[in-house]
Amino acid sequence: MDDPLLVPSLADLRRRRGLKWRLYGEDVLPLWVAEMDVLPPEPVTRAVTDAMALGDTGYPWAPDYVDAVADFAGRHWGWAPEAGRTRLVPNVMLGISEVLRLLTGPGDAVVVNCPVYPPFYAFVRNLGRRVVEAPLGPDGRIDLQRLASAFGDARRDGGRAAYLLASPHNPTGVVHTEQELTAAGELAADHGVRVVVDEIHAPLVHAPHRFVPYLSLPVGAAAFSVFSASKGFNLAGLTSAVAMAGEEAASDLAAMPQEVAFGASHVGSIAQAAALREGDEWLDALLGGLDRNRQLLRELLADRLPGVGYSAPEGTYLAWLDFRPLGLGDDPAGFLREHAKVALSPGPDFGTGGAGHARLNFATSPAVLTEAVERMARAVGDRAVAAGDADYH
Ligand SMILES: Cc1ncc(COP(=O)(O)O)c(C=O)c1O
Repeated sequence: MDDPLLVPSLADLRRRRGLKWRLYGEDVLPLWVAEMDVLPPEPVTRAVTDAMALGDTGYPWAPDYVDAVADFAGRHWGWAPEAGRTRLVPNVMLGISEVLRLLTGPGDAVVVNCPVYPPFYAFVRNLGRRVVEAPLGPDGRIDLQRLASAFGDARRDGGRAAYLLASPHNPTGVVHTEQELTAAGELAADHGVRVVVDEIHAPLVHAPHRFVPYLSLPVGAAAFSVFSASKGFNLAGLTSAVAMAGEEAASDLAAMPQEVAFGASHVGSIAQAAALREGDEWLDALLGGLDRNRQLLRELLADRLPGVGYSAPEGTYLAWLDFRPLGLGDDPAGFLREHAKVALSPGPDFGTGGAGHARLNFATSPAVLTEAVERMARAVGDRAVAAGDADYH
């Protein structure tokens, strides 16, 4: 199968009416929000078209979607969630909110590993919980000492607390190992902190790295995981997701109001179920393309923007770029949007550790990726010339 990233033309992408292609003007290349420049797997298009032809546009039937998730997880990760401990939720972030509502109360703490996906802050705060940051280590991986100190802070006043973990991590693309997950989970248990794992990027792991489902581990018994096919198969506009509970968390999950599931889209569930059941070949081809792009990005940066820090992500299609050596200030994305006409996600939005960084979404064609780096290099070069930097070549 062809690399899905090679299929849509830039002209067709510009006709899209979603956030990625509409927020900025036609002169900007959008490499920011986590959407991919692909067409869906054919079975998804077929399933949605069939649903339309049938008028199958009512409320969702959860068991079918839950079964598709279990089918995918079993095939890919050798582990499947228990249907009886899996609930349909509208999407991953709303699912996480509902789980945090079960595990914590107003004013309680939620620990996050910063820099991290900005909605982790927004959703937690909108829920009336406070965010406690446990910065990742300099290698971008979980730092157990900082985590222990954040857990201590989170439980300081005796309230309940949760640890919201992105696995794989956004924006660094780190794929936590079994040992890392176990160590973090044991630490959480020692501090009486409940674990909620966002596994939305799980299908997007580059070999030889391996995604380990948190609930498959002994530390997962009291934890929750939230998952959907929306990142792996680019179906954010067709929303549906699951919240899964470990064995000891079943009674917590049972307290989730039934009406939470009403927010999921039936057509979204149909689309995602088709992707999960019949999308393996497409996903393989996509991962091949993403792997080539993460290497291409390395070459392009080395050639055109050698000061920028980049380590190829183990998972996801997100590159966490360190622009600090170039002196573009706290928000390089602001400079690049204005002067290079390339939109990246601003690093400071990702919390402590985000200043001087920006996140680049490389789930696009090699041509667009090359043009984007070219534009950024030109803008940085022009700036150096304007500043009279004699050393700049
Ligand atoms: C880590 C993470 N969680 C959740 C989401 C959003 O998921 P949803 O649209 O299902 O809420 C994203 C989207 O980029 C993400 O990167």
